[in-house]
Amino acid sequence: MRETLEKIRESALEQIQSVGASLEQIRIRYLGKKGELTAVLRGMGALSAEERPKIGELANQVRADIEEAIAAKQRQKEALALEKRLKEEKLDVTMPGTPVAAGHLHPLTQVQRQLEDIFIGMGFSIEEGPEVELDYYNFQALNIPKNHPARDTQDTFYITDSILLRSQTSPVQVRAMEHRKPPIRIISPGRVYRSDALDATHSPLFHQLEGLVVDRGITMGDLKGTLEIFAKKMFGENTRIRFRPHHFPFTEPSAEVDVSCYVCGGKGCRICKGEGWIEILGAGMVHPFVLSNCGIDPEVYSGFAFGMGIERVAMKAYSIDDIRLFYENDERFLEQF
Ligand code: PHE
Repeated sequence: MRETLEKIRESALEQIQSVGASLEQIRIRYLGKKGELTAVLRGMGALSAEERPKIGELANQVRADIEEAIAAKQRQKEALALEKRLKEEKLDVTMPGTPVAAGHLHPLTQVQRQLEDIFIGMGFSIEEGPEVELDYYNFQALNIPKNHPARDTQDTFYITDSILLRSQTSPVQVRAMEHRKPPIRIISPGRVYRSDALDATHSPLFHQLEGLVVDRGITMGDLKGTLEIFAKKMFGENTRIRFRPHHFPFTEPSAEVDVSCYVCGGKGCRICKGEGWIEILGAGMVHPFVLSNCGIDPEVYSGFAFGMGIERVAMKAYSIDDIRLFYENDERFLEQF
């Protein structure tokens, strides 16, 4: 029996050291419930009382040796595996990282926020209005009755006879005056729609920013002063503005407002097409009819309003010559802002 035990130890230790040995299989083969060592131990009952403790001690020693050899081999295997991994996987912590492309706001949004900041800085607050609008707010209340020729100049998307996609942000003037009491000082940026074919300067969807101030004693001088500050902040300190007489049904008097060309300063260049001036917005004193349509007494209050195309401002500010670039989401364009 002693011999058998010695043999078991010898062959187990040998197997444990052999290449590619499955340690678990070896453990089961020798130490498992039906293992070889277990079988020997079962036979111990037949030994004499004198032999039994000696063989028992040896058997325990053999078991301990095999267990220890398995554990040692296991540690060795793990160490080798780790070493192999460390060799194969190289991590150079000094290598530059893979840059993650950071997105940014669309140029139109950037310009809109810039405009908003300028007017907020002058005490205006932002007012929003619906894009699906009533004919009443888009036209009627703005002193543009049915069959008025001004309706032809703005080709409007009608949804029903009385509901349309707003063709300008001016309806927000009316909504603001209906639910606020003067003093009113708001801007209203947003989308507007006109049934124009898409080309380099026209889009059926574009953006405007409306401004409205109503209070006692508001004059054309306030309008001029406000727009002058706006123009300097937007286009540079040396910018001048120019009012040209114009007609809008909802303002009287009305004007188209130009800013001096920020490229040539007024001498005339490619950007301003030799004019020295760039048309930037429409404006005027709120028509008394519009005030009274909104329940504001034109004998007591007066106001001014202006409206500009945000695309137009952005195109001028960045020398962009095609409005379609804003909507195509070509990254080569967007990345430049
Ligand atoms: N709503 C006008 C347009 O779309 C612009 C405008 C706004 C003019 C306010 C005067 C006052 O052309």
